[in-house]
Amino acid sequence: MSHQPVNLSDVKLAVVGLGYVGLPLAVEFGKKRPVVGFDINNRRIDGLQSGFDQTLEVSEAELAEATQLSYTADRAQLGQANVYIVTVPTPIDEYKQPDLTPLVKASETIGAVLKRGDIVIYESTVYPGATEEDCVPVLERVSGLKFNVDFYAGYSPERINPGDKEHRVSTIKKVTSGSTPEVAELVDQLYKQIITAGTHKASSIRVAEAAK
Ligand SMILES: NC(=O)c1ccc[n+]([C@@H]2O[C@H](COP(=O)([O-])OP(=O)(O)OC[C@H]3O[C@@H](n4cnc5c(N)ncnc54)[C@H](O)[C@@H]3O)[C@@H](O)[C@H]2O)c1
Repeated sequence: MSHQPVNLSDVKLAVVGLGYVGLPLAVEFGKKRPVVGFDINNRRIDGLQSGFDQTLEVSEAELAEATQLSYTADRAQLGQANVYIVTVPTPIDEYKQPDLTPLVKASETIGAVLKRGDIVIYESTVYPGATEEDCVPVLERVSGLKFNVDFYAGYSPERINPGDKEHRVSTIKKVTSGSTPEVAELVDQLYKQIITAGTHKASSIRVAEAAK
């Protein structure tokens, strides 16, 4: 029997990877709902805990507005969440293909705390198919849970331009998707809460991956 995905009103978010993409997103959500911001870089976490963003993307005043956002480098704390948004780097390799190593590592970290009903949403730039072919198998292997039975996935590409103070995460229309129609709707509703420019629900994860 399959396990129902979490309800929108019960979502407890974690953002995994607090760089140019992850931090502004975590801050927007952290103005509205509890968010655990996780990064493997301790210095990054120390800076954010003292109210300063080393990338200078988010001002100290904006950070202070995200009153429900907490920061941690402790993997165990991710277990408080039930929806995870993955915003780790995907550097281009020598063959001009995104290197998925950070995504695989982040998926292992999440897999270790994954529970029935949880949803993992990827935002990192990937080639079409990578979420379901490269990331989901890692989540299944580490958690022992079954995709689209016990846990679910989503994909939403990020299109921000670092340094652009005019077009921010909330003012750029966002493509969303999910691994079932029900999850796609939940992911879309979740992003609608912070994206004032609106969202576009793609027909599948693969279509959303190709949308960038
Ligand atoms: N910066 C951009 O302009 C931009 C725009 C759109 C999409 N993207 C895509 O978004 C993704 C993130 O890019 P970015 O610019 O924010 O990267 P970034 O290098 O600024 O930040 C990534 C963060 O993830 C952390 N991290 C790395 N591995 C981790 C792991 N296993 N677990 C937890 N945290 C980890 C790093 O310490 C860093 O703080 C990439 O796929 C990128 O291609 C970037």
